[in-house]
Amino acid sequence: MEHPPTLRFSLQLQIFLSFVLSLAFLTTTTTTITQGQEEEEDQFVYSGFSGGGGTGLGLTLDGTATVTPDGVLKLTNGTLHLKGHAFYPTPCRFRKSPNGAVQSFSVTFVFCMVPVYSDQCTDGMTFLISPTKDFSGAQHSQYLGLLNKTTDGKPSNQIFAVELDSSQNTEFDDIDDNHVGIDINSLTSTQVRPAGFYDDKKGGAFNNLTLVSRKEMQVWVDYDADTTKITVTLAPLKVAKPSRPLVSTTYNLSTVLRDKSYLGFSASTGPINSLYCVLGWSLGINRAAPDIDMTKLPKLPRIGPKPRPKAMEIVLPIASATFIFLVGTSIVLLVRRRRKYAELHEDWEDEYGPHRFSYKDLFHATQGFHNKNLLGHGGFGKVYKGVLPVSKLEVAVKRVSHESKQGIKEFIAEIVSIGRIRHRNIVQLLGYCRRKGELLLVYEYMSNGSLDRYLYVQEEEDAPTLDWGRRFEIIKGVASGLFYLHERWEKVVVHRDIKASNVLVDGEMNGRLGDFGLSRLYEHGTDPQTTRVVGTMGYFAPELARTGKATPLTDVYAFGIFILEVTCGRRPIVDKGVEEDDGSEILVDWVVEHCRKGSLMETVDMRLRGSSSDPDEVCLALKIGLLCAHPFGNVRPSMRQVMKYLDGETPVPELMPTTLSYSMMGVLQNDGFSDYASLSATVSSRNGITSSSSFSAGR
Ligand SMILES: Nc1ncnc2c1ncn2[C@@H]1O[C@H](COP(=O)(O)OP(=O)(O)OP(=O)(O)O)[C@@H](O)[C@H]1O
Ligand SMILES: *[C@@H]1O[C@H](CO)[C@@H](O)[C@H](O)[C@H]1NC(C)=O
Ligand SMILES: *[C@@H]1O[C@H](CO)[C@@H](O)[C@H](O)[C@H]1NC(C)=O
Ligand SMILES: *[C@@H]1O[C@H](CO)[C@@H](O)[C@H](O)[C@H]1NC(C)=O
Ligand SMILES: *[C@@H]1O[C@H](CO)[C@@H](O)[C@H](O)[C@H]1NC(C)=O
Ligand SMILES: [Mg+2]
Repeated sequence: MEHPPTLRFSLQLQIFLSFVLSLAFLTTTTTTITQGQEEEEDQFVYSGFSGGGGTGLGLTLDGTATVTPDGVLKLTNGTLHLKGHAFYPTPCRFRKSPNGAVQSFSVTFVFCMVPVYSDQCTDGMTFLISPTKDFSGAQHSQYLGLLNKTTDGKPSNQIFAVELDSSQNTEFDDIDDNHVGIDINSLTSTQVRPAGFYDDKKGGAFNNLTLVSRKEMQVWVDYDADTTKITVTLAPLKVAKPSRPLVSTTYNLSTVLRDKSYLGFSASTGPINSLYCVLGWSLGINRAAPDIDMTKLPKLPRIGPKPRPKAMEIVLPIASATFIFLVGTSIVLLVRRRRKYAELHEDWEDEYGPHRFSYKDLFHATQGFHNKNLLGHGGFGKVYKGVLPVSKLEVAVKRVSHESKQGIKEFIAEIVSIGRIRHRNIVQLLGYCRRKGELLLVYEYMSNGSLDRYLYVQEEEDAPTLDWGRRFEIIKGVASGLFYLHERWEKVVVHRDIKASNVLVDGEMNGRLGDFGLSRLYEHGTDPQTTRVVGTMGYFAPELARTGKATPLTDVYAFGIFILEVTCGRRPIVDKGVEEDDGSEILVDWVVEHCRKGSLMETVDMRLRGSSSDPDEVCLALKIGLLCAHPFGNVRPSMRQVMKYLDGETPVPELMPTTLSYSMMGVLQNDGFSDYASLSATVSSRNGITSSSSFSAGR
C-alpha cells in the first residue's frame, strides 16, 4: 500500500525533528554538567556575603559565626571565650585523580579585626583547609577554634591553615601579638612573620601593618604544585598584591590535604571582646583566584566605640573647649551687661513711668559717662553733657550718689512734680533714673553753663564778662523764677540752694534757676535732732542755722546774697589772702560797711565801673540785695515785692545807716547771733564756698 505523498513527507519531517531535538538535548545536558563542575569545585568568588536569605549564600556557619544583613561574615560576636566557623558548603577536589598530587590553588580574602571596647583583640582567626566541617572538638582562645590540646600537631588532622594572630602565645612559639603564619596540622607555625608588606612603590621596603586596626586588609594564599611553594601575602585594601610575599615556605601539600577538602575560616575570642570579620573571598584551583569586586564589599559593622579619626581627637577637645569658652564668655558678658545697666525700680514708681529714663540710654547718651563730657561737679555729684539716643535732645545728667532709701519716695514725687514746671527762668527737669546707690537727674542742657563762670574770671584772663544790662536781666529773671516757685506754682516750692553756680545761662543769655529741691534729699532725717541742714556756706539765712527749717524767706536771703554777688562780682565769702584789708571777708558785711559810710558805689564790680551801666539801677540792686539779706526774716521782702522793686513799681524802703548799723553789725555782737559770728570766724575758705563743722553740709 502506497503512502500518500503528504504522509510520506510528514514521516520524513518527524524523523528529522526527533534527530534535531535529541541533538539539542544532548548539547544542553553536557553544558549543564561542565558548568556545575566548574562552579562547585574549580572556583568561587564572594564579594560580600549578602543574599541567600541571610545564610551567607549557603555558607555553613557554627558557633558565634553569623552573616549580617549587610553581608559581613562575622566569625565572632564579641562575647568572650567563644569560637565560630564558616565553610564553603561543599568540599573542593584538590587532586585531579584520587591518588594524584594536590594541584596548584590560590585563595584570596578580605578581613577586618574590630576591637569592641579597647584597642586590642584576642585571640585570632585562620583561613583553613580541612577534611571536615565539624570543629566542635576544637578549643577557643589560643587554639583559634582550629585544634585542641590533644590534636595539636597530629598529622592525622590533615589541616592546612593560615593564621592571623592578634595575641602572643608562648606555647606555640608566637613571635608577637601581630603576626601571620603558615600552619600545617599545628598551631605552631611552619613559617611566621610580623604583619606587614613589601611596598612595591617604595622599592620593596617593608611596611609594618597592625592587624587590629579596624581597617580592611587583603590576604593572598598561593600554592604552586610544581615547586610545592606556599606563599602568603598581606596588604591594605587599597594596595595591589605586592610582588614579594610576606611569608613563604616549601611544603608538599600532597602529603597533607585529602582529595576532597573543605575551605573555611575559624576564629576565637579570648579575654578581650573582639570581632573577626570576613568581607570577601575567592578560590581558584589550578588557576588564579577570581578578583573580588571591591566596590561590592559590605560596610564594616558599627560595633563598639567609633573609630575616631586622629584629627578629631585634637579638633574635638579644642572645638568643645572653644565652645564652652564662648558660651561662658557670653554669659559673663550678658551678666556684666545686665549688671552694667541694672536699675532700681519699685512699684510706687510706676506712676512716674514717663519721667523715667533707662540707664542704658543715659549711659550711651553720655558716651559711658566719659570725662570729656564732664560739665563740672558740685556737692552732690558730677554733671555730664549728653545727647539722648532717639530724640537727639541735649541734656545734662547729674549723678547723685544716694545710699539710703529714706525719703527717696517723697523726693522723687517732688522732683517729678517739679518736672512739670515750665518757666522760662527755670531749668526744666526732664526726668530721672534710679540705680543701686545712685540717682540720675536729667535736665535741659544750658549751652552757656553756670553764671559763676562769668562773674569770677581770672584777672589775667581776658575772658568775657557780662555788662550791667545782662546782669540786671539775669537778676530779674531769677527773681521771676523764684517768685513763680514761691507763689505761682500749685504749691510752695522752696529752692534751698540759690547761688551763682545754680543759675544757668541758656543760649539767649537768660538766667535760669536750676538744682532745686536736691538738698531736701539729704536733709531728710528720721527725727528733728539729726535733721541736717544742707546748702552752701555764705547763702545761709541766720535763722536757718538755728531752726534748720528752709522757708521762702531763707530763699529770699540767699537771693539777696546772689544780687550782691552779681553786682559786686565777689564771692559771698572772700578769700582773706586775695583781698586787700579793706573790711570783712563776708560780702554782705563789707557792703553794709560801705553803705554805712555812704560809699556804696565803691562795692560795684570793677569791670562795670565807667562803662554804660546805669548807676541808679546798680544802686537799686545793691539796696534790694541788702534788704533781702537782712538778718531778720520779718524785715525781708517777699519775692512778689522784690519783683515790684526791680521793675521800679515800688520804691525800695530806705535803709538808714543807723538802722543798718543796729540791725547788721550791732546784732553780730549780740548773743543771739553767736552762731553767725562764730561761723564767720571759723570759716575755712576755699573758692569762696566753704563748710564748717557746725554745719553738716552737702560738700
Ligand atoms: N543743665 C545744665 N546745663 C549745662 N551745664 C550744667 C547744667 N547743670 C549743671 N551744669 C554744669 O555742671 C556744673 C556742676 O553742677 P552742680 O550742680 O553739680 O554743682 P554746683 O551747682 O556747683 O553745686 P551744687 O551741688 O550745690 O548744685 C555746674 O557748675 C555747671 O557748669
Ligand atoms: C554570641 O554568640 C553566643 C553563642 O551563639 C551567644 O550565647 C551570645 O549571646 C552572643 N553574644 C552576642 C553579644 O550576641
Ligand atoms: C579534640 O578534638 C578531637 C577531634 O575534634 C575530639 O575528638 C576530642 O575529643 C577533642 N579533645 C578535647 C580534649 O576536647
Ligand atoms: C616595624 O615593627 C618592628 C617591631 O614592632 C620595629 O622594630 C620596626 O622598626 C617597625 N618598622 C617600621 C618601618 O615601622
Ligand atoms: C609531592 O608528593 C606527592 C606524593 O607524595 C608526589 O607524587 C609528588 O611528586 C610530590 N611533588 C613534588 C614536587 O615533590
Ligand atoms: Mg548746681
